[in-house]
Amino acid sequence: SNLDSRRIGSQGIDLEQALRAHKKRLEAARDALWGRKGDPAEFLGWIDVPEDTQTLRKVLRYREANAWVEDLVVLGIGGSALGAQAVNAALGKGPVRLHFVDNVEPEPILELLRSLEPRKTLVNVISKSGSTAETMAAFLAFRRWLEEALGQDWKRHVVVTTDPARGILRPYAQAEGLPAFEVPPAVGGRFSVTCPVGTLPLAFVGVDLEALLAGCRKANETAQAQVEANLPAQSALVHHLLSQKGKSVNVFMPYSTRLRYLPDWFVQLHDESLGKAIDREGKVVHTGTTAVRAIGTTDQHAQVQLFREGPHDKLITFVRLEKPTEDLKIPAVAGLEALDYLFGRSFFELLDAEAKATAHALAKAHQPNFAFVLERLDAYTLGWLMQHLMWQTAFLGELWNINAFDQPGVELGKEYTYALMGRRGYEKLAAELKAEGVE
Ligand code: PA5
Repeated sequence: SNLDSRRIGSQGIDLEQALRAHKKRLEAARDALWGRKGDPAEFLGWIDVPEDTQTLRKVLRYREANAWVEDLVVLGIGGSALGAQAVNAALGKGPVRLHFVDNVEPEPILELLRSLEPRKTLVNVISKSGSTAETMAAFLAFRRWLEEALGQDWKRHVVVTTDPARGILRPYAQAEGLPAFEVPPAVGGRFSVTCPVGTLPLAFVGVDLEALLAGCRKANETAQAQVEANLPAQSALVHHLLSQKGKSVNVFMPYSTRLRYLPDWFVQLHDESLGKAIDREGKVVHTGTTAVRAIGTTDQHAQVQLFREGPHDKLITFVRLEKPTEDLKIPAVAGLEALDYLFGRSFFELLDAEAKATAHALAKAHQPNFAFVLERLDAYTLGWLMQHLMWQTAFLGELWNINAFDQPGVELGKEYTYALMGRRGYEKLAAELKAEGVE
């Protein structure tokens, strides 16, 4: 990977100079993160998860023992779905079909249920808290569907991923004798792709999990380095300095259809971690930049007009590949000589040219951008990139002096939902909502 300082330089940030000026602050951030790692209350468990080969072996054994599975349905939302979805789209090879139920819109759920054969279906219910309304509603529906079709055999078709002690799913799994995997207590949902939240579904679609975790460990190594070689400290610094220059929108744009769900995962990681009302001292700060998804080249034809000529409020992060996994030649066709600049070239060459051309055109318009350049798209490089982005988020949390690992802003909406749905204990809130015209 590299951070192309010439492009960032188009906005007046000289990366080397900035690193010198902010060295102490970045070192303090790095040392604080590594220093707090052992404290479960700090939610830094994601740093060590890639070292946990014992859990990985348990996941792989479970996959081997369940060779009968043809469809795997993941019931989970937010951090309990987006990581596996991103990696599956990039690297999943089957033969198992992976489905994600991460919404409660009835029609798609019914369509999925109607398309599945219960005897060949495994349902992985994933909820760290074991209380998320969307996931629990889906579980109730799928459990009933399985029981109606299979009787007591439904238990062989459910696997639970949840906190080792907290929430209602753990005791339920124990009472029913369901197989269950753990979300480590010190790992938050959006940082959980490397634990069984991600690895269990990914084991069913042939992703090389050893390589994925090795890539994550490589990113950990870099995150420990001196700031001159510490890439997450550097990319966080670029975000931080540009946010101070009014770049409040953070576009994440891989040039790859296979990486089409990676921006969704990044948007959640970045926005939920860094949009915070108060800092660690309790001061009102309202931090955050808004991450936006885009895919190259597709969104050159949808968003790049705005990126180039719209408000100068963006930092654009590209992800490019150095090499294709396989390539396709563009053939010459008689009668279409107007296209001869394409004849004999390859699709990857065109993709690469479009990525470089767009980055340069944006730089010319003084829209700062940089690229993560992966040697190729495989489990190792994707593991590296995802762990790098988790580190970048953690570094930004330190630079902004906020807790990047909680999400207090989503609680009130959840409580209103409980009140509107008539959950016991929320009667007062329901009355308040009614008085305010919400029912
Ligand atoms: O990142 C997070 O913590 C959240 O997005 C959660 O993953 C999401 O709310 C789902 O939570 P749970 O796994 O408890 O059902």
